[in-house]
Amino acid sequence: MADELVLVTGAAGRVAGQLLPGLAGRPLRLFDRTAAQHEGAEVVTGELTDPAALERAVDGVGAVVHLAGNPAPTAAWEELRGPNVEGFAALLAAAARAGVRRVVFASSVHAMGAHEADGRVPVDAAWPPRPCCPYGATKAFDEAVATVASRRGPVSTVGLRLGATVPQPEERSQLASWLGPADLRQVVVRALQVDASRVHLGGYPAVSANTRQHWDLGPARADLGYAPELDSEAFADRVEDDGTDTVACPR
Ligand SMILES: NC(=O)c1ccc[n+]([C@@H]2O[C@H](COP(=O)([O-])OP(=O)(O)OC[C@H]3O[C@@H](n4cnc5c(N)ncnc54)[C@H](O)[C@@H]3O)[C@@H](O)[C@H]2O)c1
Repeated sequence: MADELVLVTGAAGRVAGQLLPGLAGRPLRLFDRTAAQHEGAEVVTGELTDPAALERAVDGVGAVVHLAGNPAPTAAWEELRGPNVEGFAALLAAAARAGVRRVVFASSVHAMGAHEADGRVPVDAAWPPRPCCPYGATKAFDEAVATVASRRGPVSTVGLRLGATVPQPEERSQLASWLGPADLRQVVVRALQVDASRVHLGGYPAVSANTRQHWDLGPARADLGYAPELDSEAFADRVEDDGTDTVACPR
């Protein structure tokens, strides 16, 4: 498994920049609409919605870490549908045709944002998705379509509901949902490695071990073996007060 070719989509983005050092030593292929770079990695440049580019991207790949998409919780449906819905469905279909073993994909805590916004915390990952915005709704859809792909095989999927994935929290609203770089790397590697029989949920929260936790990490610990080591509390006295304790979108 350690020598299989791993495709990272959205490889020119911010999350990928924090993740890629954690995949050192693995054969890597990078895919993005803008040219991505990482030492020793193959590069395929193209659009998720271009079938020929996707075929090139998944050819010979053992596992995918799918990060490409529109990450904006404020985005309108028209801006999200191509990258987050059509693009992800196309990637899953291409991965299945190519015999890819595992697709780990970036969902978001916004898929469960309405639970958080309504004060139902810590959010249980087994509750039904309750997005707080169109962006969160695309992530909930992604979890559903990935579950279908997993059931049909041969690809198996692991959805990670990433929290605020930044090197360090900068606003009060990020303290409950921060995912620090070392924990990002750990949870993605765990998700690449975990046996498919252990994956029971469409999406697992991926946040650090924050003192002000809004996300129950029990299932991620039990199923994926995720053992986060970082805590946003170390930065709590330095963050800007943006007036809220949640990442959920306001009503
Ligand atoms: N950054 C966060 O805190 C955060 C939190 C939760 C979830 N996520 C998710 O993680 C993923 C990565 O987020 P990010 O912050 O790195 O975003 P980003 O915008 O920095 O990177 C996304 C990358 O995807 C590429 N891309 C977008 N649409 C594409 C398409 N149709 N075809 C090819 N490439 C395309 C972009 O060029 C970009 O390099 C997204 O799916 C996002 O929803 C991010």
